[in-house]
Amino acid sequence: REHWIASIPGDGIGIEVIEQAHRVLKQLEKLSKTFKLHIDTFNWSSNDYLKTGEYIPADGLKTLKKYDAILFGAVGSPDVPDHISLWGLILPIRKMFNQYVNLRPIRVLPGLSSPLKHIDAQDLDWVIVRENSEGEYAGQGGTTHDDTPYTIANEVAVFTRQGIERTIRFAFDTASSRPRKHLTLVTKSNAQRHGLVLWDKIFYEVAAEYPDVKTDKMLVDAMTVRMVLKPSTLDTIVATNLHGDILSDLAAALSGSIGVAPSSNLNPTREFPSMFEPIHGSAPDIAGLGVANPVGTFWSVAEMLKWLGEQEAGEKLMKGIEKVTESGFKTKDIGGNADMVTVTEALLRELENS
Ligand code: NAI
Ligand code: MG
Repeated sequence: REHWIASIPGDGIGIEVIEQAHRVLKQLEKLSKTFKLHIDTFNWSSNDYLKTGEYIPADGLKTLKKYDAILFGAVGSPDVPDHISLWGLILPIRKMFNQYVNLRPIRVLPGLSSPLKHIDAQDLDWVIVRENSEGEYAGQGGTTHDDTPYTIANEVAVFTRQGIERTIRFAFDTASSRPRKHLTLVTKSNAQRHGLVLWDKIFYEVAAEYPDVKTDKMLVDAMTVRMVLKPSTLDTIVATNLHGDILSDLAAALSGSIGVAPSSNLNPTREFPSMFEPIHGSAPDIAGLGVANPVGTFWSVAEMLKWLGEQEAGEKLMKGIEKVTESGFKTKDIGGNADMVTVTEALLRELENS
């Protein structure tokens, strides 16, 4: 089997962690003998943007379309406004390739602990299914009377039946495949009375088709409290683009650090490539120091391999990651003192010996 992977390191620590991910992928390829990987790197970055005025060259998306998967680091620079960098690089890929589900598994890896002492490792084992193509990040709206005291900015959230239903269906399939078969819907349908009322309605329509899945429903504000105080009552969670974004950062922090959490931007129909990335950003505060936690990227690579049908390699990698965290090879953000390369090399050895 052969897989073609487009790798986009981006900016800051994205560049560093993706370099380590390539080492891990090469090692897995060498050890497996059943698959071959072709990794092409696209150095599209904020530096490019500052020079040329664009992140993705004119034919860039057409080029990406031919790949089986995209591995992404992070984008963002202190020299470019964040809404320009996000809309310049990552959002066009998500939208063009109809990656309408953002899947974020969260659990406390062996050797790690939640920063909240009352949370035991086994209390926290969640999957967040975030709608990834519309909602509050639809990019609709505009600004009038700009630079006057009367400025009005409209940020229009767009919710469609098709967009909501396909994400909710994916969430039910996910919940149904897990032992607890439990799905929590997060909205804010008391205050947001159009789009989120539609979410509630469609959720219960689809629920009727999944009698084996237990459901409940939370308002997003109360959900933050439940995640912190009663994490063991949750399993699979489905939420809008904005709510899912915020809740998954909280979830990652509760599980140890934002540096360990992976995400998959999925095109479930497989018409287009899906994209795999750690949930963290470019972290300009630690960029270039070699201390970034590579685990979120490695976990994303494991998810990518599974999506590509390389179940065995994905599981081998995940076991390797867990061995490494368990044996204390940890970066500073999760309470250790190892640097990024030391963690990577511990993983390479672990894979070699497993
Ligand atoms: P961030 O995730 O880059 O950093 C937040 C904090 O967590 C920082 O203190 C950072 O040092 C730490 N951190 C993040 N990842 C880490 C890792 N792997 N190991 C150790 N520590 C880690 O978020 P922030 O600071 O809000 O954004 C920085 C830039 O990244 C901005 O330009 C933002 O727009 C961009 N960003 C890009 C994302 C993407 O490419 N998908 C996602 C989030 C932010
Ligand atoms: Mg985020």
